[in-house]
Amino acid sequence: MRAVSVQLGNRSYAIKIAPGLLQKLGGECARLNLGDRCAIITDNNVGKKFAKPAYDSLLKNGFEPALITIPAGENSKSLKCVQFCYDQLAAQRLERKSFIVALGGGVVGDLAGFVAATYLRGIDFVQAPTTLLAQVDSSVGGKTGVNLRAGKNLAGAFYQPRLVLCDLETLETLPEREFRAGLAEVIKYGIIFDTKLFAQLERDLPKVLKRQPKTLEQIIARCCEIKAEIVSKDEAESGLRAILNFGHTIGHAIENSFGYGKFLHGEAISIGQVAAAKLSQKILGLPQCDVQRIENLFQRAGLPVKIKLNSAQRKKLFAAMKLDKKVSAGEIRFVLAKKIGKVVWGQKVSTGLIEGVLATDAHR
Ligand SMILES: NC(=O)c1ccc[n+]([C@@H]2O[C@H](COP(=O)([O-])OP(=O)(O)OC[C@H]3O[C@@H](n4cnc5c(N)ncnc54)[C@H](O)[C@@H]3O)[C@@H](O)[C@H]2O)c1
Ligand SMILES: [Zn+2]
Repeated sequence: MRAVSVQLGNRSYAIKIAPGLLQKLGGECARLNLGDRCAIITDNNVGKKFAKPAYDSLLKNGFEPALITIPAGENSKSLKCVQFCYDQLAAQRLERKSFIVALGGGVVGDLAGFVAATYLRGIDFVQAPTTLLAQVDSSVGGKTGVNLRAGKNLAGAFYQPRLVLCDLETLETLPEREFRAGLAEVIKYGIIFDTKLFAQLERDLPKVLKRQPKTLEQIIARCCEIKAEIVSKDEAESGLRAILNFGHTIGHAIENSFGYGKFLHGEAISIGQVAAAKLSQKILGLPQCDVQRIENLFQRAGLPVKIKLNSAQRKKLFAAMKLDKKVSAGEIRFVLAKKIGKVVWGQKVSTGLIEGVLATDAHR
């Protein structure tokens, strides 16, 4: 087992990574002295596969778990679903000392985290992420929230879990497309923070794609370490934490303008990261060979690196980019790479240049 610690004073917590951790969920919660009543929030896909070991383990350790199941998919990250969870928690008589276990991908984690942050003004919660994306990214760092009609993640709270348990066995049943989408965030950590991780991914990609447990355990732990370090230094995203958004300005605009569902988040940010690498070359002099290495790695991971846009789609994409939360005073700001492993944030980029890198993508 590997363990990583997120250092946030008296709100510090551990991330544990190993196969079979769901069977140990109850024991781990007991060590944290969490209250007796608890609720597992999961979705209908994950619940079918993994609710039982989690539930049994809690029961065996003296907890009284309730099970709340929401429909799988991004649509569940909604205020309607928050309301549904509140009603269930109240009906099951969860109180201030009770806690929530978020069992699932980023959708369940973001929703259940937000519910935990707000139910009775905040009760404890534990993340048990079951997608690669959730294990390396969304379960760590305390960003929780739901979507509004006006856009993604517009209602939310910073609220840290008490523990993150990444059971590697859950990844065995993850659909291939979802697994590869998670890799887009893994590769991101290499680009923004760790040249060695990037080189390892270039070397070990076949093992990663085969989901070899030892390789995954080490790589997931490294990603969590990087995220933990960044979050510890800048929990509320007033500076450094922004580097986690590498590739996300264009990525989010792609998700927004094509509607959720056409591209998975990881696919959209794969295109976004390759575009950001090209912008980095133009603005910061990122060497052409590094741009090529970045594009190749995403491609080898089976992720899209280009997007075809007609003029209506192009218009929509730019409109979406300008609406992004990270835009201030009408200027689009980017995280750009100086080299692989080192990025800077807050770089102003003209729409002309963005048009340029996307236009190349569309027609070659
Ligand atoms: N809070 C953050 O910091 C943060 C960071 C990145 C992304 N996010 C959010 O995360 C969400 C995306 O998360 P996601 O990619 O995990 O998607 P998801 O939660 O929708 O899961 C993807 C699909 O895989 C299924 N699934 C999950 N685990 C499985 C398993 N082990 N086996 C088989 N099927 C499984 C789910 O039911 C779902 O259908 C987005 O809403 C995004 O905004 C949040
Ligand atoms: Zn992301």
